[in-house]
Amino acid sequence: MNEALPQKSTKPDFKPIVAPDNDAFRFLAPTLRSLTQDTPLTKIVDMPEIKLSFGPLRRESISEKFPGERHEHSAKAVINRPPQYMKPHPPYDVFNAPIYGARELTKPGAEKRTFHFDIDVTDYPEEGGVDFKVGGAVGICPPNDPEVVDDIMDQLGVPRFVRDKPMRLHTTGGRWPTIWGDEEARELVTTRREILTWTVDISSTAPTKALFRVLAEYATAENEKKILFYLCSAQGLAAFCDLRSGPHVTLQQLLHAFPSSKPPLEAILATLNQLMPRFYSLSNDPHVSSDREGLAGRRLIEMAVTVHETSAVGNKSRTGVGSGFLERQALRFADAEKQAIEEAESAGQPAPQPGVAGRQLNIQIPMFRGLMSNPLSREFNSDGPMMLIGAGVGMAPFRGFILNRLKNANCANKIWLVQGVRDSMLDEIYQGELGTHEKEIKKVVQSRAQAPPPTAEELAATAEEEAAPLAVKEDRNQRKVAKYVQDEVRLQADIVWFVINAIDGRVFVCGSTKGMGEGVQSALIDVAMDKGNLDYETATQFWEQKKKDGQYIAETW
Ligand SMILES: Cc1cc2nc3c(=O)[nH]c(=O)nc-3n(C[C@H](O)[C@H](O)[C@H](O)COP(=O)(O)OP(=O)(O)OC[C@H]3O[C@@H](n4cnc5c(N)ncnc54)[C@H](O)[C@@H]3O)c2cc1C
Ligand SMILES: NC(=O)c1ccc[n+]([C@@H]2O[C@H](COP(=O)([O-])OP(=O)(O)OC[C@H]3O[C@@H](n4cnc5c(N)ncnc54)[C@H](OP(=O)(O)O)[C@@H]3O)[C@@H](O)[C@H]2O)c1
Repeated sequence: MNEALPQKSTKPDFKPIVAPDNDAFRFLAPTLRSLTQDTPLTKIVDMPEIKLSFGPLRRESISEKFPGERHEHSAKAVINRPPQYMKPHPPYDVFNAPIYGARELTKPGAEKRTFHFDIDVTDYPEEGGVDFKVGGAVGICPPNDPEVVDDIMDQLGVPRFVRDKPMRLHTTGGRWPTIWGDEEARELVTTRREILTWTVDISSTAPTKALFRVLAEYATAENEKKILFYLCSAQGLAAFCDLRSGPHVTLQQLLHAFPSSKPPLEAILATLNQLMPRFYSLSNDPHVSSDREGLAGRRLIEMAVTVHETSAVGNKSRTGVGSGFLERQALRFADAEKQAIEEAESAGQPAPQPGVAGRQLNIQIPMFRGLMSNPLSREFNSDGPMMLIGAGVGMAPFRGFILNRLKNANCANKIWLVQGVRDSMLDEIYQGELGTHEKEIKKVVQSRAQAPPPTAEELAATAEEEAAPLAVKEDRNQRKVAKYVQDEVRLQADIVWFVINAIDGRVFVCGSTKGMGEGVQSALIDVAMDKGNLDYETATQFWEQKKKDGQYIAETW
């Protein structure tokens, strides 16, 4: 598919390409090499087939023809509530669960922010008798950022009076705009804002050639048109690949980089993927938490969410769709709390009960029950020794495991948690929330460990280094060494070997696949080679077998 560009022209009538003069284009910085305004381009992809159309709506037809779509279509209503037709787990609807509590788990200065949520699922409807389970992961249907949606409509020139006007959407096939509905032609009532808010991925996947092709078709500035055609031609293949693997380009950014292109919304929608739900592990045992004092029959699920951030135009950053949405909700909740405290203080009244002011906002999270027979929830055992290995927010489901075990017995000598953090002062999530034996069962491994300032005792010991007891020296060295969880797994080889060879023992791993998941897997192989005297191949097979037996469970993402 790749074809070379001709050498730079020396002809007197050579027409150089003028790069669009805007920050978004400079951020994009596509490699134009010797591209000129007259460079012949080949194998330009075809315009995508547009399988949808918009039509007007007669008032009376809403109730007659679309009785399920009688919901309000004002901007405010649309932003707060996903359309019924989305159906992420048919035949059930999305449930709007109120936030019962939200707080930040990380401290200012943490490289990644993590938030905890208590979500009220008391009114979650019966769905075939399946309940929320420790280790399960709920599905969240996040909306796109409302400001980005508005900006996209601004860039496309969608008039304001049209944005929230109910209309008919026809599709000629496929699942869209449902998530996991049947593949079929559809006719439904919606608005342009609703579609852009809930049904299409406008920012978390790299742009496709089809999108560049549509933008090229409608660009009116000569230079923009040429560059866009180049990006979907054989000559521009390398530049296109760079854009996909480089700066995480979004539709919004492309519309700013090529401002003369204003395709009809239908054409843009034809190139976008479905906006998919995001999954978040329960960080509690739903049955234990619901017994908490003061909850009076409420059912809560809890989760921890780390915010994904990517660099964006103008030295700014933008957040991931799901984690960004959840962060915005957590901050609204926290602001209401803060304001209520300030108001009480200035009125000389006692501080309000935590959570009351936040709950008054009735902030809702569109969710569904999600995965309740995933490996973590399926293989969790309420008895037997467990080695839990988690880095970052990957530790969250293990809080649920420990809370479950605390219900019946103490965890000491039954549970070993290896928790990977960057710096325990900033991002050791759920510190102090794992019961009275937390210190005994948990080993925190810091990847950016800083040696704490020496104590007076240590200074004296340094002076007489040779005379210092071995344990003091080792402890000091340990604290200075930045480590990953897999380093600790190797150090704890005896425990790992004991747990995995116990009849009902389990080794659980949770966190990011890239790096951490692979690193832990190879540390476990080392343990089996060392403790079981196995060669590399047999040690690998040992863990494969343990995986099949449900004793070694790695859920990484
Ligand atoms: C079973 C399961 C359980 C999980 N549990 C948790 C949990 O408990 N807590 C938790 O925090 N997470 C958890 N996750 C991860 C979570 O589901 C989301 O994947 C995560 O929050 C990121 O989603 P997002 O919408 O915020 O980011 P997205 O917007 O989807 O972006 C994610 C990543 O995609 C890339 N990307 C973004 N934009 C572009 C672009 N334009 N071009 C190219 N690449 C791009 C970036 O690398 C970015 O960081 C879990 C996942 C699974 C499957
Ligand atoms: N059920 C599930 O599947 C599930 C549940 C929860 C979370 N998750 C996933 O878990 C991940 C957690 O991510 P996070 O953003 O909170 O944290 P993160 O960015 O993955 O970092 C957590 C810690 O891991 C360290 N780390 C980096 N590279 C490593 C490597 N090669 N080996 C071992 N450790 C390494 C980091 O150290 P440095 O940065 O200092 O190098 C940091 O201390 C996410 O990808 C999330 O999707 C999955």
